[in-house]
Amino acid sequence: MKRILVTGAYGQIGTELVNELRKRYGGDNVIATDVRDNPPSLIADNGPNEVLNIMDKTAIDSVVDKYNIDTIFHMAALLSATGEKDPFLCWDINMNGTINIIKTTIEKKLKKIFVPSSIAVWGPGVETINTPQESVLQPTTMYGVTKVSGEILSDYFVKKHGLDIRGLRYPGIISSETLPGGGTTDYAVEIFYEAVKHQKYDCFLKDDATLPMMYMPDCIKATIDLMEADFDRLKHHSNFNVAAASFSPSELAAEIKKHIPNFEITYTPDSRQKIAESWPQVIDDSAARSEWDWSHDFDLEKMTKNMVEVLTEKHKNGLI
Ligand code: SER
Repeated sequence: MKRILVTGAYGQIGTELVNELRKRYGGDNVIATDVRDNPPSLIADNGPNEVLNIMDKTAIDSVVDKYNIDTIFHMAALLSATGEKDPFLCWDINMNGTINIIKTTIEKKLKKIFVPSSIAVWGPGVETINTPQESVLQPTTMYGVTKVSGEILSDYFVKKHGLDIRGLRYPGIISSETLPGGGTTDYAVEIFYEAVKHQKYDCFLKDDATLPMMYMPDCIKATIDLMEADFDRLKHHSNFNVAAASFSPSELAAEIKKHIPNFEITYTPDSRQKIAESWPQVIDDSAARSEWDWSHDFDLEKMTKNMVEVLTEKHKNGLI
């Protein structure tokens, strides 16, 4: 990993991933690309930014050539809730975008690529507590369908064509830099902004909708650690379960109340509740722990304390 391209770089994970990669590999070696042309301030000036539509294979090829890229983190995708509004668009962007990236990887002989997966790969028939690495994958959303397909497609190219494609099944990601867009787990970010700004939040999931979650520093660590892992140690490639903390909206609200005592939560579940119910509550990530030494740093308490501190400071400074 010397010359890195990130797609979807202005999204929730992309922004902080680019920032960390630039610290580790040098600003000029990490090219942030997105279909939008307004980079978040965190990554606007610390390295090259380019507009790139992942549906345009010729444009991908020319950015790869221009910057002599050897590694891609392919973060661009439509998430679960947005995907349900237009399932065909979700398939088109998530699958054909990924196929374009894989084709470029083959043609330009890139060293390795990261293609993320998600807890959305699961659905009915799976154990919801300690969901194993090898399990039934019957997604109920088009986003999940594209993530299962992306895993199978990636593994096919690893096994049959010798590519190095790696991926994680991301849980819900909580962060304070860039807002998530269009996911079922977005409540776990919105709740902090509303708690800090208005001391109340109306949650779109039910009080007991437990889901696997992870704080952004752990998400970035998992992503980069997997990409830096020794390929020969890996038995899995594109579908690692990774876990940090599992909790429900009411458990998260109780934890926030420890820091913001007058915080109040109400519940108005919408269509995202059904999606949440189809996903596991706690996942077993022992394969990641044994194949590339994954371990998380943030549990519910530590993450909540940190989120409240960071957002309170931002609020005081008029940034949110
Ligand atoms: N955070 C994603 C979503 O809710 C799950 O990968 O869609």
